Amino acid sequence: MQTIFADMRTGIDKEQMARAGEILRSGGLVAFPTETVYGLGANALDADAAAKIYRAKGRPSDNPLIVHIADMEALYQIAAEVPEKARALAAWFWPGPLTMIFKKKDCVPKTTTGGLDTVAVRMPDHAVALQLIREGGGFVAAPSANASGRPSPTKASHVAEDMAGKIDMIIDGGDVGIGVESTILDLSGDIPMILRPGYVNQDMLQKVIGEVTADPALFSADPKEPPKAPGMKYRHYAPKAEMLIVEGAQEAVVSHIRRLAQEELERGGKPGVIASEETKEHYAGIVRCMGSRQDELSISRHLYAVLRELDEQNVTKIFSEAFDTPVLGQAIMNRLLRAAGHQIVKV
Ligand code: TXA
Ligand code: MG
Repeated sequence: MQTIFADMRTGIDKEQMARAGEILRSGGLVAFPTETVYGLGANALDADAAAKIYRAKGRPSDNPLIVHIADMEALYQIAAEVPEKARALAAWFWPGPLTMIFKKKDCVPKTTTGGLDTVAVRMPDHAVALQLIREGGGFVAAPSANASGRPSPTKASHVAEDMAGKIDMIIDGGDVGIGVESTILDLSGDIPMILRPGYVNQDMLQKVIGEVTADPALFSADPKEPPKAPGMKYRHYAPKAEMLIVEGAQEAVVSHIRRLAQEELERGGKPGVIASEETKEHYAGIVRCMGSRQDELSISRHLYAVLRELDEQNVTKIFSEAFDTPVLGQAIMNRLLRAAGHQIVKV
């Protein structure tokens, strides 16, 4: 298959957008930018189109897709019930990086929902994404546009690495703004529960709807129960090399990572280090900087690109600092812990 590349970094190209909409309406696949990560879109109400997403990504068929919409009316067309709290959250956070789970209507095929009776819905905060959803018929199923198990794409070149030749079109909207996937909130229980942490954090949600909990499986290496979002149980965000996170006071972390990297070198390995602007000068060898601890978004924005770059360098071990930053800390650490298979040491 030949993949069409459309450049919309500086604005919407109307002709290419019409073509993208036509591809979606006729059952094809279009990768597009959102404010979180790039998505791989198909018509969410067309089971055959949704099935193509699973094939292109190599994604297990029990891992449900998020349906992207461009207006509130669309929500009522696919959700059987919209609780009061969801309406309040939509008013605050949509369009934006929050996904909510609803009981689905029959028009949403089970291929899209991985066999579940619920549907995850989000309205992205990105002009290109919103326009594509409108042109494509209003309901776009879109997981992150990476091959299953790879780090999510935060630039169009990442999508091309994983998907060129397998999908119909890639829309380049430049680098994303947030860099980690949306927060997923389940409102079906008495107390709403975060199934995946994202930019919209527990505090922000609680200010609008009162008590919110987080899935206890998110931060545990060996949870009693599997995570409640099916996709969170899979190895994901993962670089090829084994990874270890080192947590603690800055000086202690730096000296511990330096020592581990030195030992890896002496074993004949090729260590890679994930550092911050504040510490990067202290390390030698293959060092990738996530960003400044004073600017959380720079850290979340670079996370997946850094993991991909270290893969390209064929490092044998990755040692990462921890990033428990105030707003995005839960989201960043959740992704890092999964990339590291929950290997973390405190110094
Ligand atoms: O920011 C995002 O959410 C990005 C962009 C493209 O919008 N999309 C994204 O999709 O991250 P994906 O497929 O990579 O992750 C969707 C997650 C999976 O962990 C999946 O299991 C969970 O959402 N999910 C989807 N539908 C669900 C449902 N009905 N119940 C529970 N979890 C659900
Ligand atoms: Mg994903």
